[in-house]
Amino acid sequence: MNLEQERIVGKTKVDDDVVIKIEDLHVSFGDNHVLKGFNMVLKKGENLVVMGKSGSGKSVLIKCMVGLLTPDRGYVEVLGKDIGTLDQHALDELRSHIGFLFQGSALYDSMTVRENLEFPMRRHRNRFGADQDTLPYVMEALENVGLAHTLDLMPAELSGGMKRRVALARAIILRPKLIMYDEPTSGLDPITAKEIIELMRNIQKKYGTSALIITHDVDCARVVSERMILLVDGTNYAEGTYGELLASSNPMVNAFFKK
Ligand SMILES: Nc1ncnc2c1ncn2[C@@H]1O[C@H](COP(=O)(O)OP(=O)(O)O)[C@@H](O)[C@H]1O
Ligand SMILES: [Mg+2]
Repeated sequence: MNLEQERIVGKTKVDDDVVIKIEDLHVSFGDNHVLKGFNMVLKKGENLVVMGKSGSGKSVLIKCMVGLLTPDRGYVEVLGKDIGTLDQHALDELRSHIGFLFQGSALYDSMTVRENLEFPMRRHRNRFGADQDTLPYVMEALENVGLAHTLDLMPAELSGGMKRRVALARAIILRPKLIMYDEPTSGLDPITAKEIIELMRNIQKKYGTSALIITHDVDCARVVSERMILLVDGTNYAEGTYGELLASSNPMVNAFFKK
């Protein structure tokens, strides 16, 4: 065993409860310093919200966690793996344990609902076997979001809220240990947003997944999270429960709760 492996194995042993660990994360695009020493820990079974204004670096943060973006500096560990040390194959394998709900649903317009849901299973064929019957997985995922009847529809035939629910079904189809939600309620009316939040909670209860929710929607944060981190000026500026942050006397923190 080389030194690198020893270090990773050591970490996994010590931090069995840790699903995501980020230390001193720095990301810049030219002169635009987006993340300037961001830190966070997500524990097993926890729902954590990272809230930040538009353009504050929330999507950049998620991209660093799944290896789509290489940070300038810092340590990123997901499901016991040091992201910075993984090759493409190891990254793919890690991603098969993570469900994603991308900003704005991101369904494939030319595919039916069924084909959209089968996509991650085909992509991670090695975990399921090429001849695995996908339909039971697709149906269970769709039933979880109350949309079994949309199996053969095209995305264009669905409302915005239904699209988001299909995207949610797609995020859970591989039975992930961890789900990352990027702005799960953005662009939805308040009632539909509430339905999505309710589904997120049900899924978390049913499968016991850990969840990272990135949002600027304070209502979403209030309902869905046990703990929140406020991303301000590239750092984890404040942290606590919704109630604790709401009661803060810090004007920067208060600004998040003003309507
Ligand atoms: N690939 C990129 N190249 C250059 N700038 C980027 C890139 N991705 C994000 N940015 C910049 O980083 C900042 C944060 O973006 P983002 O993480 O998308 O914000 P949000 O918090 O709204 O998700 C923005 O100023 C954005 O313009
Ligand atoms: Mg974003």
